[in-house]
Amino acid sequence: MTQQEALIRALPKVELHLHIEGSLEPEMMFELARRNGIKLPYDSVEAVREAYDFDNLQSFLDLYYAGAGVLITEQDFYDLTWAYLKRCEADKVVHTEIFFDPQTHTDRGIAFETVLNGIRRALKDGNEKLRISSRLIMSFLRHLSEEEGFKTLEMARPYLEEIDGIGLDSSELGHPPSKFERLFAECKALGLPRVAHAGEEGPPEYVWEAIKLLDVCRIDHGVRALEDEKLVESLAETRLPLTVCPYSNVKLKVFDRLADHNLRDLLAKGLCATVNSDDPAYFGGYVQENYLGCARELKLSVEEILQLVKNGFEACWLEEGERGWWMGECDIIAEKFIA
Ligand code: ADE
Ligand code: ZN
Repeated sequence: MTQQEALIRALPKVELHLHIEGSLEPEMMFELARRNGIKLPYDSVEAVREAYDFDNLQSFLDLYYAGAGVLITEQDFYDLTWAYLKRCEADKVVHTEIFFDPQTHTDRGIAFETVLNGIRRALKDGNEKLRISSRLIMSFLRHLSEEEGFKTLEMARPYLEEIDGIGLDSSELGHPPSKFERLFAECKALGLPRVAHAGEEGPPEYVWEAIKLLDVCRIDHGVRALEDEKLVESLAETRLPLTVCPYSNVKLKVFDRLADHNLRDLLAKGLCATVNSDDPAYFGGYVQENYLGCARELKLSVEEILQLVKNGFEACWLEEGERGWWMGECDIIAEKFIA
């Protein structure tokens, strides 16, 4: 085992970019389909995995929304979330901030409450039984209208205590952050912190819009920010975090190979880049695997690994004292690895 691999395995980590629906493994998809009497268009788990060969974001989203169709009951959402938290435990993820897409479910007749209660109950158990702290981010689907987003916000209104932040995801090209300016202003007025996917497939202008018009505190992905020098300068100065998802970017053809990923450049320019898995059941790796793959293919040093992991704690929504404590733990562990 290399020093880098040993360090990655030893460090406590956070995850800040994870769609809970994207953690639906094919095995569970079959189990839930059986439980709910749903016929899948695949004969086997292997056939599902073979279908996961994507050309771009949209070709993935088509399968991702179809796959989510097996999630019906509160117990389904609980089981999905619990399975993800067990993976967190195995990866030494001590804190996670996950997205859920209510519109993916309410649009097919599942009650908002069913989705929220299942996920929330699992997160509570994760906190109590696995000692994994968490936050829950309600994400709006940007291919739908802002008006649809407002309707979803109305559904969420009785449960705002249980929602820690707001996100924006789905098909990026043609759906700029500016489309959701009024909705995000309303969420801001409600005191909800905001993040948005931007600069995954979309241009740097979308990252600017997310910052200036939606007043986000993190950018999800943001890898195309490197194309705009002024934006890079601004991100370095403000340390506005990017939740980068290396395996996702390769699977969705943002980069040809992991070895071509710009994660190291983002770090070198002083950006608060973090490592995350996005939709691990579809992209072939949970967060630790993303770190390990990057360490191998980008030849990350132990210092770079430590920086990425600490960036995660810097970027997360834990209280400042707790964040500082975890960063101190990381330093103590890493000391043995730094010559
Ligand atoms: N929904 C789930 N994964 C996503 C991604 N990578 N980009 C945009 N929307 C998503
Ligand atoms: Zn995402």
